[in-house]
Amino acid sequence: MNPTGPQGSLQLAIILPTLNERDNLAPLVERIDRALGETGWEVLVVDDNSSDGTAEEARRLARADHRVRVIQRIGRRGLSSAAIEGFCATAAPYCAVMDADHQHDPKLLAPMLEAVRSGRAQVAVASRFAKGASTEDWGRPDRVQLSNVANALARKLTGVKLTDPMSGYFLLPTEAALKLVPGLSGIGFKILLDLLATSEEPLVVEEFPLDFAARRSGESKLDRAIALDFLAGLYDKTFGKFIPTRFALFGTVGALGVLVHMAILYLFLLLAGANFAWSQAIATLGAMTFNFWLNNFLTYRDRRIRKAGELLRGWASFVAACSVGAVANVAIATMLFQRGVHEVLAALIGIAIASVWNYALSSRFVWGR
Ligand code: GDD
Ligand code: MN
Repeated sequence: MNPTGPQGSLQLAIILPTLNERDNLAPLVERIDRALGETGWEVLVVDDNSSDGTAEEARRLARADHRVRVIQRIGRRGLSSAAIEGFCATAAPYCAVMDADHQHDPKLLAPMLEAVRSGRAQVAVASRFAKGASTEDWGRPDRVQLSNVANALARKLTGVKLTDPMSGYFLLPTEAALKLVPGLSGIGFKILLDLLATSEEPLVVEEFPLDFAARRSGESKLDRAIALDFLAGLYDKTFGKFIPTRFALFGTVGALGVLVHMAILYLFLLLAGANFAWSQAIATLGAMTFNFWLNNFLTYRDRRIRKAGELLRGWASFVAACSVGAVANVAIATMLFQRGVHEVLAALIGIAIASVWNYALSSRFVWGR
């Protein structure tokens, strides 16, 4: 790195969302510097309080080279929202988002910048699936290109023909990004799709074939179910205005939880001959466990709790957060049942009241920002 080398005025901010990428940072900044030559750049590391000391490492780099900057977020999570944080924090006229794990080749930055700066394109996208692209990371099944159906849907949504709508490597004028920010959902990692779909006019995109390298150090934070994020993006842009995506997911999980609840309830009531209050209590706990698991996997996938110890704590706080609702649930349902309300209806009313509590409390205390 040569912090005192000849550099033009600040042109490009490279936003690096990071979650446990400590060892990847220094070599990546060096590669970026080499790839950009005299173009004025800055690197914005947006770290979500990684446990491996990524933020400290970024600060160390920033002290050595003022072109590196650090945004450390505590209590917030997510690739999309990290990218948005970056858009809002730079004075550079152009900004790029790229992975910090060396899977995205910095050599593409200069031609991508050129495409946008010359006005040839409004967004430059590095694509793993454009003609000429290659990938060394086919080990994981989600690396397979989205189906034609998905790509057709993405095209309908964005008005742009894309080979890789879920790419995490793209570049656009900062002003254009900022204009779109108020309309973005900020959930998950579909930030490019979100930007393109939020623009009223279809944006002119130029794709750059990417040699998708293997990750250098650490492990992937995203999982196989990338299609889920894609579907959530579709929902978000179609019905999301009426019922927010997260609420819809929570509701869907809740509805499935009702089935689990009913199954357990009947198991205990009919097969085991247990009394109603006990059966309802056990069914509530069973449904709560099921809901915690599925919400963690689906509704809050961008803030997913993964480690065994944290999972246990997350489950415990989910149960704790929901216990007020659960007490109300069992009490109200039992009271209604004793007053002659049919057991199914009694249980449903108990559940409805409890789920209002559950959503409010758990999104704040279990997966809270
Ligand atoms: N700040 C922050 N917060 N950064 C995150 C988070 C988060 O919650 N989750 C992931 N990151 C960072 C990682 O540290 C990495 O720098 C980058 O975002 C991409 O994450 P990876 O874990 O390397 O993703 P991947 O390689 O599995 O997924 C790739 O393909 C996706 C589409 O299939 C990436 O290129 C994604 O950007 C892309 O959307
Ligand atoms: Mn990666």
